[in-house]
Amino acid sequence: MENNDLSKRGAWGSKVAFVFAAAGSAIGLGNIWRFPMVVGQNGGALFVLVYILAVALIGFSVMLAELVIGRYSQRNPAGAFEFIKPGSLWKLIGYFGILTAVCILSYYAVIAGWSAGYLMKTASGSFKTSLTSELSDKIFTEFSADPLQAILFFLVMIGITTLIVSKGIKGGIERWTKILMPILFILIIYLAVRALMLPGAKEGISFYLKPDFSQLSGKLILFALGQAFFSLSLGMGIMVTYGSYISKSDNLVTSAGWVCFFDSLIAFFAGIIIFPTLFAIPGIAPAAGPGLVFKVLPLIFSKIPGGILFGTLFFSLFSIAALTSTISLLEVPVAYFVDERSWSRKKAAILVGLFIFCLGIPSALSSGGMAFFTKIDFMGKMDFIFLSLFLPIGALLICVFLGYVWGVKNAAQEILSGNPRFKLGPLWSFSVKFLSPIAILIILYFIKTIAE
Ligand code: PHE
Repeated sequence: MENNDLSKRGAWGSKVAFVFAAAGSAIGLGNIWRFPMVVGQNGGALFVLVYILAVALIGFSVMLAELVIGRYSQRNPAGAFEFIKPGSLWKLIGYFGILTAVCILSYYAVIAGWSAGYLMKTASGSFKTSLTSELSDKIFTEFSADPLQAILFFLVMIGITTLIVSKGIKGGIERWTKILMPILFILIIYLAVRALMLPGAKEGISFYLKPDFSQLSGKLILFALGQAFFSLSLGMGIMVTYGSYISKSDNLVTSAGWVCFFDSLIAFFAGIIIFPTLFAIPGIAPAAGPGLVFKVLPLIFSKIPGGILFGTLFFSLFSIAALTSTISLLEVPVAYFVDERSWSRKKAAILVGLFIFCLGIPSALSSGGMAFFTKIDFMGKMDFIFLSLFLPIGALLICVFLGYVWGVKNAAQEILSGNPRFKLGPLWSFSVKFLSPIAILIILYFIKTIAE
């Protein structure tokens, strides 16, 4: 590691480039698919409120912690912890993060592939006006159970991701997120305005934005916290890695703030699109669960005027958002091989991409493609272990490392570079040392209830 040549690693061209790339990582299935789903299942507006608090009080602090570790060490997660505490076991947090990223990517890209498949289906007019709820269910079940299609679309998503990551930080990730993110913003604003003009819009918006405080429960708070970690891509070293390419003259606090802001904004807009759309057809429950996007939305797109265009744009949005997240997931192991094993970026991207493709095949086959993987719900198990369990554990370890091993004072020193008047110190320290770890321990304790 002594001859770690930093100039070969690459760096962001500007602060905006970092914010776009990191927001691209954060904005994904979590915002467009999972956020409306959990809002729907947890009573609507109050959840939105608690979620915003969770992002501001805890998510932001953990994100800043990851960015500081990354920028200070200028390394991938495994190298970063070793650099700060050489010869200790803390570097295992880094390996733990890399493993988590690889495993999450292996099934996340399968769902991203579904989105690409649905984009094709919607665009080619597969969803006719005569579509019924049973038929929509059947189309999704048949589509996700078809081994060929599931694997093919998964391969397409992994292939594009590998290609972009292999082109490096400036020429690959930065270039593409700078193109894709503005498209995503425009699409989401257009779709939100369009959704607000639908017949059921008023009812949908009041479900989404009028809090009913009697709904407050421990479960709601836990869900909101878990969603915040997932949505901000925290706990596995993505932000350590992306932080390691930030210039010493950039302000880390405002960078983290922008990423949290954009991520929450897009989740918020996704709700503005989904709830009025759901209420456009009477009789559809907002608590429809995971099938919400794939089963319910096509039904609605098939009934509303201009639905084919609306639906096609929606699934384009969904696919782009997923792609900017898969890129960040692949970047974590690739940065490791580039930094620590001196592989070329191209070799690392291709080999890791190929490995993840193989690892993801059981997930692609677990929605009916192959009886064995379906029966054990392979994808569900991966999701539970890595997302529900490993992410919060990773975030907890990062807080403990920063708060008690490296020390908030040392970390704050790094923040001063690019932000000489850093004032949030005591608040941030309180969040990293006490509030966030305790909140995560509580999440982990109640994990069974959350998973239900
Ligand atoms: N934050 C991404 C999303 O909202 C998901 C993700 C989680 C990506 C963890 C990377 C790591 O979809």
